Amino acid sequence: EVSPTPDLQRTLALIKPDVYPAKKEEIVARIKQAGFTIVKESEVSFDKEKAAEFYKEHEGKGFYEELTTWMSSAPIYALVLEKPAAVKEWRNLAGPTNSNKAREIAPHSIRALFGTDGSLNAVHGSDSPASAEREIGVVFGGEVAGVPPSVLNKETA
Ligand code: TYD
Ligand code: MG
Repeated sequence: EVSPTPDLQRTLALIKPDVYPAKKEEIVARIKQAGFTIVKESEVSFDKEKAAEFYKEHEGKGFYEELTTWMSSAPIYALVLEKPAAVKEWRNLAGPTNSNKAREIAPHSIRALFGTDGSLNAVHGSDSPASAEREIGVVFGGEVAGVPPSVLNKETA
């Protein structure tokens, strides 16, 4: 018999300093409307070292210094979201990285609606299940990063 349990997955969302706290409630409402379960949520303040760890994949790139300085400049709001295919679903709802491009090709996305440009883009979303687990660990610790073994490491297409 096929299990009725949905293919649940977790991802990390951040509401960034350009829109937090002003647009938090509107963005959370859209997250809930899209059917995500909020497993954990909290205001978080990154120091420079935490921002550097969080964005370590971008170390050495031209925007890294500005990005990590900005993300440690003011409080942000972090949420662990759960849903089948949560990683992909949340990146779809967030929209393309550059808010100006988002307004052209995904006008209903959160980055289109709330972001400014290619740097100030309102929200973060993990880019893979492995990134989600690492990032949730960086922000909330390993306890929350852990998910049932049945849903670990599933690269939902
Ligand atoms: P990236 O991981 O490429 O985008 P995404 O957030 O969609 O996964 O980049 C991380 C953040 O770095 C991005 O949200 C905004 C910032 N950024 C810039 O400021 N300039 C850039 O050219 C890029 C690519 C990103
Ligand atoms: Mg990324």
